[in-house]
Amino acid sequence: MEFKSKIKTIEWEGTYSKMVDQTVVPYEYKFVNITTGDDMFDAIRNMIVRGAPAIGIAGAHGVILFAQELAQKGLSREDFVKQLIEKAEYMKTSRPTAVNLMWACEKQIEVIKNSKSDINGIIEELKVNGVKLENEDIEINKKIGDYGAEVVPKGATILTHCNAGALATVGYGTALGVVRSAYAKDNTIQVFADETRPRQQGARITTFELAMDGIPVTLITDGMCSYFMKKGMIDMVVVGADRIAANGDTANKIGTYTVAIAAKYHNIPFYIAAPLSTIDISIKSGDEIPIEERSREEVTHINGKPICALEGVNVINPGFDVTPHDLIAGIITEKGILRPDYNKSISEAFKNI
Ligand code: MRU
Repeated sequence: MEFKSKIKTIEWEGTYSKMVDQTVVPYEYKFVNITTGDDMFDAIRNMIVRGAPAIGIAGAHGVILFAQELAQKGLSREDFVKQLIEKAEYMKTSRPTAVNLMWACEKQIEVIKNSKSDINGIIEELKVNGVKLENEDIEINKKIGDYGAEVVPKGATILTHCNAGALATVGYGTALGVVRSAYAKDNTIQVFADETRPRQQGARITTFELAMDGIPVTLITDGMCSYFMKKGMIDMVVVGADRIAANGDTANKIGTYTVAIAAKYHNIPFYIAAPLSTIDISIKSGDEIPIEERSREEVTHINGKPICALEGVNVINPGFDVTPHDLIAGIITEKGILRPDYNKSISEAFKNI
């Protein structure tokens, strides 16, 4: 039985991009239309759209929006192509860690470079490619979900961190794709969701989307995971990824590394669920992954309200951490579950793609 999720996070609508505004979930579930390339850059940077695969698709849509704007300027085809590639390179810089953003913009750059068409034809080809990437994302997530479901024990409690769900992708999700596919086979499984400070993607988004799809979920704060692991209440951990190095080291939302260490200590399998587009084979290890630094307000405030009494306190706010490959039991991809030695299994998975 296939699990039907109700959520579609981002969609190309002919001339603009429509997306769920994730800054207001779960208080509101509303869509915004992004109509310019600069607005898409800001939507990614300000996390109206977030999650590695979703910002990849947003970037691809952003390139189409820039193309539509440049087409109004009366440029020669040569200047149009040159300026559009510059805009696509700029779009890649809207956030630094999730490599899917660079990957998807690069896919659009390939379309531009390979096109033999006039300006309008290039725009049409970019639209076709954007929609193709959208559809493929859902298909890939379903494959990830089905492979991952095979390693979910009967009646399992699955711990996840941040949101690697339908709302972090076009639909279905990576880590939560595994949950959805497993739930379709065994409706006695349940999820424990880490709150995920500072931006609370677990509390706000993971609990919301699982509840929306009727999957049992329990919210815990980030510091509680070892407590529940020691009590034998967690059977496995599945999280998403923003960038995976060739040796399997994995960048994901800050706090993931702590969960992985706790899982190792308690002999609980810790899995990454991610498409191959999240693997950056150009880097040897996680040391080379750029880590986004975000604003102090994300730490000192929640939903615009200060939580810290000490005004002007020093704050440091890295958005991601890197989990070393030796803490990872497997990387669940659309090509199956990659196991250590990751240098070998990753390079094998990249053959024939
Ligand atoms: O800062 P965010 O919310 O974009 O970070 C998201 C994550 O870290 C997710 O776990 C990751 O992108 C995987 S999404 C399928």
